[in-house]
Parts: sequence; structure tokens; C-alpha cells
Amino acid sequence: MMEIKADIGDITKIEAGAIVVSFLEGMKHPEEKLVTIDKALDRAISQLISQGEIKGKLNEVTIVHSLGRLPATRVVVVGLGKRKELNQDKIRGAVAETCRRLQQKGIDNIATIAHGAGIASISLESAAQAVTEGALLGVYSFRKHITKEAEYGEIKQLLIVGSDKAELPLLVQGSNKGKILAEATNLARDMVNESANFMTPKHMAEMATKLAETYGLEVSVLEQEQMQELGMGGLLGVAQGSQQPPKFIVLHYKGKDSAETDVALVGKGITFDSGGISIKPSEGMGEMKGDMAGGAAAMAAISAIAQLKPKINVAAIIPATENLPSGKALKPGDILTAMNGKTIEIISTDAEGRLILADALSYAKKLGAKFMVDVATLTGACRVALGDVYSGAFSNNQGLMDKVIAAGAEAGELIWQMPMHEQYKEQIKSDVADIKNVGGKWGGAITGAQFLAEFVGDIPWVHLDIAGTSLSEKEQGYLVKGATGVPVRTLVNLVLSLAK
Ligand code: BES
Ligand code: MN
Ligand code: ZN
Repeated sequence: MMEIKADIGDITKIEAGAIVVSFLEGMKHPEEKLVTIDKALDRAISQLISQGEIKGKLNEVTIVHSLGRLPATRVVVVGLGKRKELNQDKIRGAVAETCRRLQQKGIDNIATIAHGAGIASISLESAAQAVTEGALLGVYSFRKHITKEAEYGEIKQLLIVGSDKAELPLLVQGSNKGKILAEATNLARDMVNESANFMTPKHMAEMATKLAETYGLEVSVLEQEQMQELGMGGLLGVAQGSQQPPKFIVLHYKGKDSAETDVALVGKGITFDSGGISIKPSEGMGEMKGDMAGGAAAMAAISAIAQLKPKINVAAIIPATENLPSGKALKPGDILTAMNGKTIEIISTDAEGRLILADALSYAKKLGAKFMVDVATLTGACRVALGDVYSGAFSNNQGLMDKVIAAGAEAGELIWQMPMHEQYKEQIKSDVADIKNVGGKWGGAITGAQFLAEFVGDIPWVHLDIAGTSLSEKEQGYLVKGATGVPVRTLVNLVLSLAK
């Protein structure tokens, strides 16, 4: 684990494997810190700039050996791109790229400035937060099942250096928040990357119990019997084809003295989605071990919230089960009754997420939640529409939607509002039940959301479809190949903003 510290001092005097400074695109000469370093290095940096090797392009990493002319072994100049275009997310990405490069060279002790502070209205605190998040998210890897030792070791220490004594509390605060957010994101990544023979509903429930102990949350795990008592026909219906018993996981964070639930974070917890009797094609099916990404995000987010301690009450609600075919499995044509009493005709057993969320949203409503956000890898249609860049968002309340989008922007997690409309309801009308679970070929992400809305009523609610964004096909910025941990940081930011 990388240790991240903040301190005040002169970075040019620090002994480390590398000191990291930055350069903006379009600048002709080194500025500030770089001037001192440049002089110490007999103007090597100026020369690299004038020869065009250091351009300051975003994520450009230049490593210069100090050869004893500075206490640090190397000086690293990272490009931050154009001054006007700089933001927190670009800092995260640039730091991530830098840390990965240095880690690959076996450098385990780094000192850095709080890149971007004071540029384009980025505060020192948010710069320190971005640096911390970028470093921890960027060097993440999932090696749990790889027995071979890694080719290079981990970065052991990252020191964020400020120049003025008054800056220290800001650096420390920003860095602490960044650490909590990044570690929660990496927790969600671990859960999504974990294979389905390990990440079973039972294992998710055990993790929830452990998180509750560690962070002082209340936890309850409802078993099959209680699901029956509550009438959770959606969750039980999906679970009936699997040998793994379903778990309905509820975590409570109490940030103020009242019993009420202010915000419910509901996450889809399908630990493996084969499609059930409406079985999926075998190609790429293994990806469906990550169909609990929404549930993982809800669990990770509430753990971070418990550490940041906002004055608000939050519940994380995760219905967890496998979706498998068997002689006992749910079939197309079957009719289920959800917890709120609505009957559902099953068109496809592969539209299972909405069935378990129907019960989870009904449960959240019964808790009396004032705001509800659900997160789900719900539809291939959303992935087709938005790719892996934007998560899709659907809502019955524009005020809450705007807050979710803003929380996402702050996190660098892009969220695109999709429409909802009465007219889409036509598509999920059933001849034999109250509604059906598939709305036909067109507008699949929207009809999925419209289905969920049936279990929400008038409570302000946002549905986030992360089918496209929960996984990354490649390393890019602070994302690595595999699970992204989206939208953990959005959820935390949202709860912090609702607590204000
Ligand atoms: N888990 C899938 C959606 C999904 C697809 C997530 C690709 C991540 C990547 C979901 O349960 C599903 O199978 N949805 C169906 C719904 C359809 C039957 C209405 C889909 O999108 O095909
Ligand atoms: Mn499915
Ligand atoms: Zn699914």
C-alpha cells in the first residue's frame, strides 16, 4: 500500500527516488520551482523545453537524472496541457500516468508538488485531493489470483510538498479526502474484478458485515425466509435457478440523531448474469461476473461516507443473487409479484436486474427514504447509446438529477441525462400482469428505467445505468484495464452535497 503524506518544505531539497514537477503546454520558459531545479541541473530543463522534448502536453512524462546535483535521484516533469483547460480530473490522470511510469522503473519513494493548485481556479485542497486520487487509482491492479511475483514493486511513499506553513492543513485535508475516496473506489474495483466463484451473494454479505465492523455501520442481511415474509418476489424469482442462496444486504450510516433515512443508495448485486433460461451467448459471458458493480459501488460509497462523517442518514441496499438457468429457474411467461404488490410478466429472464431492483426500491421506499439513487449495470442498450464514457442517468426529479450530475463532474465521472416519458410506459404494458419486464427492441435503456420508476412513486429518484462505464477495456488516465469503480466517488460527493 502506498503511503501518502503532506508536508511543507522546499521540494528541490528533498531526498527521494524522484521529485515530480509540472509544465503547462505553450510555456516558453520554466516557472517557479522549475527555475531552481533547472539551475541546479545546469539548465537541462530549459534545453529540453527549447528543443521541444518537453512540450507540456497533457500526460507527457519526462524523466531527467540529477546525477548528484540535487538530493533527489530524478526530476520528473509532467505535462498538464493547456492552462485554460486544466481541471481536477486532468491532474488525476497526469499523476496516475506519472506514478505508473515511475513504479515500472522500480522507484518507490516520490515527492510531488500539488499540481495545478492556483491554476484555473483549482484550490490547493482540491489539487492535493486530485494528486492523491490519481496516484492511488492509477497504480491499482488486481493480482489476487496471480501467483507469480510482480515484475516491479509498489511505490511505498508519496510526499505532497507545499511551500507555505499555512498550506499544510489544506494539503492534509485534501489528501485525506482523496485517500478515502480512492480507497473506496479501489474496493469497488476489487469486488467487480473478483470472479463469481469467489464473489457470491454470501461473500458480498460477509464483506458488508466486515465493512460495518470496520467503519461503524449498522448491517442487516435478510435471508430467503425474510424475503418471503416481505414478499420479495422479484429477488426470489431470479434467485430460484441458483444453488447460491440470495442475500438482501442493508447497511445504515447514521450521521445525525434521528431514525429516518435521508438517502438510499440501491445497487444491483447480480454476482453472475448468465441470462438464466433466456441464456446469453457464451462469448464474453465471463464479463457478467461484474454485474454486481452497482452493489459494489453502493457498499464502497457508504464505507467512504462513514469515514467522512457528514450529518445525514444513509442506507445502502443491495439485493444479491446469481442469475442462472436450471430445472428450478424462472421462465419466460412466468408471473412474479414484487414487494409492493405489483405483478410482473417475465418476457426475458435476462432482464433480471430490474426484477431484483423492484424489490430493493420498494424496500427503500418502505424505509421512508427521502432521496433514492439506484446504480445498475442494467442494459446493453445504454452501453450502445453512450459507450464507456458517460453513464446514463434517468430521473423523476430534475433537482436531484442536477445534483447527481454535478457530483459526477466533481469526481470526473461523466453522467449524461437520458429522457423518461409517459409514452414509454406503453412498451412495458402486459396483457396478463401489471407490467412486463422487457419493453421491446427500441429505447431499451429508457424502458428499463421506466420499469424501475413503477417501484419508486413520487420520491425524488435517479437511476444510473453503468452497463457501459463499469469496465474499461484499456489503461487510460487513472483508469486501468478492468473495473473502473464508477460511480463510487459520485455517490459520496452527492451525499456530502445533500448533507449541506
Ligand atoms: N447485465 C445485463 C446488462 C449488461 C450488458 C451489463 C452488457 C453490462 C454489459 C442485463 O441484465 C441484461 O442482460 N440486460 C438485457 C435486457 C434485455 C433482455 C431487455 C440486455 O441489455 O440485453
Ligand atoms: Mn441480464
Ligand atoms: Zn444483468
